[in-house]
Amino acid sequence: MHPTFRLTTLCLSAILCSVCWPQGTMGTLQTNTIPAVKEFGVADTKLVLCFDKTVFGLSRSSASLAHISAKNINYVKVETLKPGLNGGVNAEITGGAIKKPNIVITLTEAVLHTTGATVLFTNQELVVQFGTYDAKFQECFYQKLYSGMISPQSVTFNNPAGKAIKYVIVETDQNIEIGGISASIHSGTVGDSKALTVQVNATPNTIRFFNNFTVRMFCEK
Ligand SMILES: *[C@@H]1O[C@H](CO)[C@@H](O)[C@H](O)[C@H]1NC(C)=O
Repeated sequence: MHPTFRLTTLCLSAILCSVCWPQGTMGTLQTNTIPAVKEFGVADTKLVLCFDKTVFGLSRSSASLAHISAKNINYVKVETLKPGLNGGVNAEITGGAIKKPNIVITLTEAVLHTTGATVLFTNQELVVQFGTYDAKFQECFYQKLYSGMISPQSVTFNNPAGKAIKYVIVETDQNIEIGGISASIHSGTVGDSKALTVQVNATPNTIRFFNNFTVRMFCEK
């Protein structure tokens, strides 16, 4: 039994959030039996919730999650909701930073499993990025793709504004326990090209996607 993790991110207030409620209500949702919480930054009542995601740990050796916000992300909390046999969470910042508008957190189970089965799932990412996000970029492309679609899928964007595409992020919402993605740039160069083709594959390698995912591109203004 692998643990389930929850990641909450608090940002400066007055941002556009998909879910916004005061930080104080968060504690009531916590159902830990083995408290295992990792925090980055400092919680403050002035901050609002801007990202909240539950990650199922099924045979996954690590999973990365990314969030891009209109305002700086000041505090991130990772907690184990349903500990597995080993419980616990390891989390580290692997991209972006606290007090910046983007962050990538990579979660690993506290005890790494060494069975053959784990090896099959090591590339089951929830987020794949190309380039480095910068707040001065502008989102210029968004496409959602759906579970049940044939894998792989190719997404092409040719920026009509003629500006270079500087950063690409592909994310799955992982609403079921399996279903990560891998992605590669099929044509163009992130950072220089105004047209790019991104190919996304389901992982584990199946003929259809298990989960919805989005492709977002950010361009020079
Ligand atoms: C995919 O998105 C649709 C529409 O937003 C939603 O109804 C569905 O539950 C999602 N499926 C998965 C597997 O996340």
